[in-house]
Amino acid sequence: MKTKKLHISFQSFSSLNELSETDQKLVAKAVSACSHAYAPYSNFQVGAALLLENNKIIIGSNQENSAYPSGLCAERVALFHAGAQYPGVAIITLVITARSPLKKLKAVVNPCGACRQVMAESATRQEKSFNVILVGEDGQGYIFDSVYDLLPFSFKFE
Ligand code: THU
Repeated sequence: MKTKKLHISFQSFSSLNELSETDQKLVAKAVSACSHAYAPYSNFQVGAALLLENNKIIIGSNQENSAYPSGLCAERVALFHAGAQYPGVAIITLVITARSPLKKLKAVVNPCGACRQVMAESATRQEKSFNVILVGEDGQGYIFDSVYDLLPFSFKFE
């Protein structure tokens, strides 16, 4: 028996000014995507913005449904839209943020496990990992250079 350790790597920032101009623009798109969320059940509005290598920006927001499991998270709305509309075009960066009409959110939104799995497989599919930026309401957040740092041991059928 051997003990193994995992190392995950990410950067933290306390202001959006620390991000590149391109990333700041992407954050602005994710923030504005929150306003397209349909989240009457949770009141938790998530916005996602994807930068593709053809410079297109794809936005997504969570879309809920009264039959609860029928809804979809913002990240997967954006990732599946990219896969359907721009097949074969690589993802460079994914920004995720959230807002609530009920209260100011204290923390960055940590993507759910299902979205992490989809992110990991998107990276595997394009044979290149991509950056994931998690942004809080005050402009603080984390940058993961590799999506695999968010989900080591992702499911693979191999
Ligand atoms: N949600 C997302 O859109 N992304 C996540 O990574 C976590 C959760 C959505 C699902 C649901 O509409 C609401 O946030 C509350 O869970």
